[in-house]
Amino acid sequence: MLETLKYLIGSTGVSGFGSKSTAEEVTETCPDLRSITAIITGATSGIGAETARVLAKRGARLVLPARNLKAAEEAKARIVSEFPESEIIVMALDLSSLTSVRNFVSELESLNLPVNILINNAGKFAHEHAISEDGIEMTFATNYLGHFLLTKLLLNTMMKTAKQTGVPGRIVNVSSSIHGWFSGDMIRYIGQISRSKSQYDATRAYALSKLANVLHTKELAQRLKVILIIFFIIYLVIKVKFCCFPLFLYFARKCWPC
Ligand SMILES: NC(=O)c1ccc[n+]([C@@H]2O[C@H](COP(=O)([O-])OP(=O)(O)OC[C@H]3O[C@@H](n4cnc5c(N)ncnc54)[C@H](OP(=O)(O)O)[C@@H]3O)[C@@H](O)[C@H]2O)c1
Repeated sequence: MLETLKYLIGSTGVSGFGSKSTAEEVTETCPDLRSITAIITGATSGIGAETARVLAKRGARLVLPARNLKAAEEAKARIVSEFPESEIIVMALDLSSLTSVRNFVSELESLNLPVNILINNAGKFAHEHAISEDGIEMTFATNYLGHFLLTKLLLNTMMKTAKQTGVPGRIVNVSSSIHGWFSGDMIRYIGQISRSKSQYDATRAYALSKLANVLHTKELAQRLKVILIIFFIIYLVIKVKFCCFPLFLYFARKCWPC
């Protein structure tokens, strides 16, 4: 209740920003992003489109993966007409298909691009029950599973980019306060609605997918923190000229996020 009230009045959080802050205001302190490459899913409309516009304004190179390539090309054209210097690459990606996610990542890898920022923004609220080609309820497949696999497959590239540039990467998962509306057994419910539509409730399915986004974010933050600490320890050890490559491999394999 208090959180909803804070949201409605635009009260600022720990970041210093609130629901009334604009993307322009948020990026005001980092006006030059020309060395940054950002991937934004769902940039053909809404929050994703505005995020793409403002990152392009700040000079970032954008990769816009989209299932609707025509809409993505139109979004690109709108940004380029406003910021002619923008570098924007449109690529095919249907997040509801795990094959499509894999194809997108291998195509991206073939371009040899760095990846500093990944914004997992695309989302859907499915009024009608549907099943993805992988046999998973469509809202969960799109909002969570596709982004989960995308993040997992891009982590190595993002870590490589961070190491080469010295700029820490950022992964942003866009969730919703509605994630708090889900109660019950997540695994059981996703199993039920992936088998039949009898238990399907669009709001509950959406809340479940957004809760999964939150849990993914928390677990990822935890695992990446472990990796960061290990890298820092290894850095210190190397500094004192102790050869610890086998130790490095051991920890890297143990702690690499999966
Ligand atoms: N708007 C809100 O009030 C609100 C509140 C809380 C959270 N959110 C979250 O914020 C994010 C953006 O919301 P929005 O309102 O800006 O959404 P939106 O305007 O409806 O845009 C959704 C984007 O996701 C893309 N998308 C949908 N299914 C896809 C798929 N299978 N593969 C690839 N792309 C797909 C759409 O592309 P197409 O062009 O192909 O349709 C579109 O670009 C979502 O994650 C949403 O859950 C929104």
